[in-house]
Amino acid sequence: MSSFFNWWVIVITLVNIFACWWLIKWTMKKRPEESEMGDVTGHKWDGLEEYNNPLPKWWLWLFYITLVFGLAYLVIFPGLGNFKGIGNWSSTGQYEKEIAQADERYGPIFAAFAATSIPDLTQDAEAMAAGERLYSNYCSQCHGSDARGARGFPNLTDTDWLWGGSPEQIKSTIVNGRGGIMTPWGPVLGDEGVENVANYVQTLSGRDVDAASAEAGKAQYNMFCVACHGIDGKGNQALGAPNLTDNIWLHGSSAGAIKKIIIEGKNGAMPALGDFLGDDKSHLLAAYVYSLSN
Ligand code: HEC
Ligand code: HEC
Repeated sequence: MSSFFNWWVIVITLVNIFACWWLIKWTMKKRPEESEMGDVTGHKWDGLEEYNNPLPKWWLWLFYITLVFGLAYLVIFPGLGNFKGIGNWSSTGQYEKEIAQADERYGPIFAAFAATSIPDLTQDAEAMAAGERLYSNYCSQCHGSDARGARGFPNLTDTDWLWGGSPEQIKSTIVNGRGGIMTPWGPVLGDEGVENVANYVQTLSGRDVDAASAEAGKAQYNMFCVACHGIDGKGNQALGAPNLTDNIWLHGSSAGAIKKIIIEGKNGAMPALGDFLGDDKSHLLAAYVYSLSN
């Protein structure tokens, strides 16, 4: 907060508290003993008059206590502009304290899971239930609550892996993240080239397309695409290059979608979550993901 707004907040807050105190004082000026039945305000409705009696004492004290509470709060907690309060409280501090408490409580449980191998963990119902909760918190926004993925976000329940489906590979994906690089080929191939190569790609999964065009595309595939997708089109897990022969499509199965990705390319990114999750949770999550297809 700039120093102007710092003082702006401080002055307005204190003036308001003082004004409340003054208002109570001012309305209380008349003591009940001064007039037997109290004053009348002069308002009259159908012969009924309104008395101007002071507030009952207990009620008055409630107001004063509220003011004292407000001031004490502003001394202890942050509230007056940039002043942090003498209690040293902050929402971040509170969050960190709660996280530390949770780690203390659940840490040993995750540590026990971490000492168990991934294939063994998949047999442990309690571990899988904990893994599923972690998955819902940290992964479902991208991979879907049923882990079946969406366009651009791989399905984790099948056996078609971009980066490999062994326990170690899955764990490494979660801890270190992955970045797939499919370079854009539109400018290199031109419209006709894209058409031909897309047709050839579709023959790899047994689709019936224009044979002459696919044949022309094969030559270009062998020149530009084999480095990553392989001579047989089965992909390369070291590069995250998808298998093009299995009729499972990360970026859409229509001819149009296939052409689009060939023209535009795509850099799919799985974030590295190792630092955030820590090793124990990453291990448990890897086991949960592994269990989905094993
Ligand atoms: C911000 C979105 C996002 C989040 C959050 C995310 N992922 Fe991913 N994940 C991706 C993308 C995108 C890919 C594909 C990367 C690529 O195209 O190469 C991927 C790939 C993967 C893969 C590799 C799949 C394969 O076929 O090899 C695994 C395993 C995986 N994620 C697991 C997880 C787990 C477990 C979590 C939660 C801890 C998680 N992801 C959270 C976006 C996300
Ligand atoms: C540098 C390596 C590389 C080269 C070269 C490359 N690709 Fe790719 N390709 C990838 C990667 C990695 C992906 C996955 C992108 C992602 O989501 O992260 C991909 C995705 C694709 C997809 C989408 C697959 C799906 O499941 O939706 C198609 C189709 C494709 N490539 C075709 C081609 C064609 C045709 C060529 C040659 C003109 C080519 N690729 C060249 C790496 C490459």
